[in-house]
Amino acid sequence: MADNTVIAPDETLDIPDFPLRRAAEEPFAPPPLVRARNAERELFRVRIWDGSTPWLITGYDAIRALFGDPRVSVDDRIDGYPHWNEAMRSTVHKRPRSVFTSDGDEHNRYRRMLTKSFTFKRVEALRASVQRVTDEHIDAILAGPQPADLVPALSLPIPSLVISEMLGVPYADAEFFQEQANKGMSRYATAEDAAAGAGALAKYLANLIRERVEDPREDLVSDLAERVGAGDISVREAAQLATGVLIAGHETTANQISLSVAALSQRPDQLELLRDATDPKVIAGAVEELLRFLSIIQTGQRRVAVEDIEIGGETIRAGDGVILDVAPANWDARRYPEPDRLDLERQDAPHVGFGFGRHQCVGAQLARMELQIVLPTLFRRIPTLRLVQPVDDLPFKHDALAYGLYELLVTW
Ligand code: HEM
Repeated sequence: MADNTVIAPDETLDIPDFPLRRAAEEPFAPPPLVRARNAERELFRVRIWDGSTPWLITGYDAIRALFGDPRVSVDDRIDGYPHWNEAMRSTVHKRPRSVFTSDGDEHNRYRRMLTKSFTFKRVEALRASVQRVTDEHIDAILAGPQPADLVPALSLPIPSLVISEMLGVPYADAEFFQEQANKGMSRYATAEDAAAGAGALAKYLANLIRERVEDPREDLVSDLAERVGAGDISVREAAQLATGVLIAGHETTANQISLSVAALSQRPDQLELLRDATDPKVIAGAVEELLRFLSIIQTGQRRVAVEDIEIGGETIRAGDGVILDVAPANWDARRYPEPDRLDLERQDAPHVGFGFGRHQCVGAQLARMELQIVLPTLFRRIPTLRLVQPVDDLPFKHDALAYGLYELLVTW
């Protein structure tokens, strides 16, 4: 670990290394130390891989305030920004700017290029095809051998097929697209595998964007091609945006599907409630609770303060790193009664699982719609579905940006 010159020696004892570990016996809960600290204060310092000590924001009120505060920036070029790792820090000036790393007007510009594709109308138009691909994949599971691994059989393919349809990837290329998208996601994938997959996708998407400049359709690649045609962005930037959407929306939704199945297997009464629900509002509420309870984004949304900010009895100084940790915020006992209880009928529980404010997840409606279809369909069509292993023994993704499962063996 690098030296700790940024903090006084007597303070170091109190500063835990981040990310923290979850407890083996509570695999769905945020790490015990984070919950204990959050019970006392809404933010505290943690030490990350480079020895720096950004603030970890864990309180529900504090996180909502800072998600919406223009005095915190997502610009990863600013000194003090808490990078995920050395690779991200060393490539910061090589990566094109994007919706994730821009503030203010620049961010609005990127964001506007995406929002058209994620309108209620476009998302709803995909509902029938999400139901169809879900049914096809469940047919294949039922026709195949037991046990089946739900991760490659259901969780990963549905979001990638849906995003490829939304982007406008021709059906004939969907398999290639899915293969590249999955490259970095297997248990033993290296950073090179992930980079090779992302590189192949960016190249593929750049070609598709060029095609759609000439021959536009009703899809996201055509929306981006229109901006390229108007001279607003380069083909490279457009391809980067499209690849970013895929990366942000693929593994996240897949993890949420797998973890939801695992969590519900421990709560048969709640599983039945979701399986038997016919009212779309009840299904929607159940999915919101699963998003709150599982809060899969586990290594925090990264920011840097550009002005001093007083919050939760502390002063965040300009230049301090800030990590917005949605899982403890979604388990904040000041906000939710019995936060550790998965209660699909919980009322009035708006969560921050998709973030909040300007950078709030662009794909939230799409992810919700997929979950509202995949989960009840799975439990209705395979009512005897059960896990092969006890939940505590499942291979959880402790080491990834988004929490999830590498494998989920089921039988029926
Ligand atoms: C369960 C599934 C998902 C979860 C939990 C999730 C979570 C999040 C969170 C917490 C953020 C906020 C980032 C920040 O404030 O720094 C975010 C942003 C984003 N998400 Fe998602 N997401 C999911 C699915 C999707 C899907 C399906 C898509 C698209 C197909 C998507 C695309 C994006 C994009 C483009 C952003 C950046 C928005 C911006 O910076 O303005 N996400 N997501």
